[in-house]
Amino acid sequence: MSATLEPDGTHAGVPAYHFDNRLGGPVLSHQHRWDEMARTHSGFRSTIARGYWVVTEGEAVQKALQDWRTFSNTSVTALEPNPRFLWIPEMLDPPLHTTWRRLLGSAFSPKTVAAREPEIRQVASALIDELKDSGGTDVLDAFARRFPTLIFMRLMGLPEEDLPRFLDWVHDLLHLSYGEDPDGNRQMSAMNAVSDYFEEQIALRRESPRDDLLSRAMTWTIDGEPIGDRDMHAFCILLFQAGFDTVPISIGWALYHFAAHPDQRKAIVANPSLVATAVEEILRVYSFVVPARKAMRDVEIGGCPVTAGEMVMLPLAVTNRDPGRFDDALEVDLHRKATNHIAFGSGPHRCLGSHLARLELNVAVEEWHRRVPDYRITPGQDLEQHGNMYGIKQLRLEWGQTP
Ligand code: HEM
Repeated sequence: MSATLEPDGTHAGVPAYHFDNRLGGPVLSHQHRWDEMARTHSGFRSTIARGYWVVTEGEAVQKALQDWRTFSNTSVTALEPNPRFLWIPEMLDPPLHTTWRRLLGSAFSPKTVAAREPEIRQVASALIDELKDSGGTDVLDAFARRFPTLIFMRLMGLPEEDLPRFLDWVHDLLHLSYGEDPDGNRQMSAMNAVSDYFEEQIALRRESPRDDLLSRAMTWTIDGEPIGDRDMHAFCILLFQAGFDTVPISIGWALYHFAAHPDQRKAIVANPSLVATAVEEILRVYSFVVPARKAMRDVEIGGCPVTAGEMVMLPLAVTNRDPGRFDDALEVDLHRKATNHIAFGSGPHRCLGSHLARLELNVAVEEWHRRVPDYRITPGQDLEQHGNMYGIKQLRLEWGQTP
């Protein structure tokens, strides 16, 4: 994939391109392409399938995410304005969305999350201890994917021996290229397996509740009614999608970045108090979430004449890498003071798991560098990233024996 898109005429007077966010490409290619499009356009039309609008003006992206009356979450999939599935709370609009967020708030609050820090640190440390004397490995498989997945399973009260199944499902659901799964069968069967798995877990807890998030959620009521199995299921599926890939992707980018920038790596090893800003900068510069919304009325945004019912894609990278918003916007600056990135989104759907994600990322970067302070990218790899969310596919690092 090149940084330049293939033009496909115009649509309602706006430049149109054959733009497909599902395609993977060389490492950083998506971020560079967003830079290029943001430099030259405030918005454009994608001609993939029935087509959708893409906003590339940083401020406009954030405003749209906050304007839920105009830009609804009833669909969040650019290619599918009328989905037949529901993810809770992501695909709800206020006021029902607000009710769910209130119920979920305490489970993901800064205080609840901070109480889990010792356990989170212990899980990260144990995983890194296992691999630190190996001299090198694919750090995504050996660490970045296992660590947050284990934490998430504990939070939900799911048995840890199911970890390998979860990692396989995440892979088949989110990481397969067109060539690996041309008819989408593997993806569909992973989706069915995840769906059956959560159905079973919900039924188990209806029978005998436990001390976990799923059991607690079953005691909640909305407008006086208990939450039914269908909504519990929609909630589990969303948490699975939101919570499983995002932290691994970010850890991957952090290790990639510090392998490629030895001076910054040495700085955080010498001064771990820089890690908090480093994590925010990695989230900002390597931004990978690309939300979409459904327009509820005719509206113009980023120069695009959007008609009610059409889909609008709102890439966070264009806001987070906007030179009008950040000095040296494309650089990770370990001393940056500005904190107004939107890697966790903006508006009512801002990431519910952001405190947990931040803690996991801080712990991962701190504990990794405590144990493996000096490492580099193993030569001879063609580093590639997935489409949709831009996680690195494989990242082999190598290091000397640690003391
Ligand atoms: C670095 C890691 C993460 C990033 C960058 C991230 C980013 C985001 C973004 C951008 C959104 C908003 C999507 C939209 O506007 O359509 C979101 C929503 C959400 N995230 Fe995260 N996320 C991360 C980790 C997590 C984790 C660990 C969890 C839970 C365990 C989680 C749970 C959620 C949920 C439930 C929502 C939906 C919120 C709602 O609809 O009100 N996220 N996340």
